[in-house]
Amino acid sequence: MVSVLFVCLGNICRSPTAEGVFRRVCQEQGVADQIRIDSAGTANWHAGKPPDARAVMAAKGRGVDISGLRARQATAADFYDFDFVIAMDDSNVEDLEILRPVDASAELHRFLAFAGSDAPRDVPDPYYGGDEGFEQVLDLITEASRGLLNHLRTADRPL
Ligand code: 4NP
Repeated sequence: MVSVLFVCLGNICRSPTAEGVFRRVCQEQGVADQIRIDSAGTANWHAGKPPDARAVMAAKGRGVDISGLRARQATAADFYDFDFVIAMDDSNVEDLEILRPVDASAELHRFLAFAGSDAPRDVPDPYYGGDEGFEQVLDLITEASRGLLNHLRTADRPL
């Protein structure tokens, strides 16, 4: 079993979208039962809340239901509880490096490191923008999800 935690700032736009899309990609490739997936935010502002309605609608348009997810804040314990902590942008990486205990086992990565070389560094924060921002987020997350799963299936991982 491999475990993956997706992290953004609020856990209501990008990381729940990543959780839902990555779960779908794992299902399509028949490995969903071998991967535990969750998401969290570096901030606690929206803890307990469902994803942003715009993120729910945009994901639904791609056949992914994220309406049942609820936000929570990332904790130091997550670095012991998950194998991979995947951040949406450089700011999330900085915040997570501060949270990360020195002896923790989780690997911390920037999500778009698993997308193609044309991809930007960051999954852009769509919160203050229009609906097209959520579509762009879905495009980037779909590409990076495939790359991340390929990474998990290579080398010493028998997925
Ligand atoms: P997320 O987007 O990090 O992708 O969930 C945001 C959600 C809420 C806020 C900022 C970004 N906010 O400022 O409340």
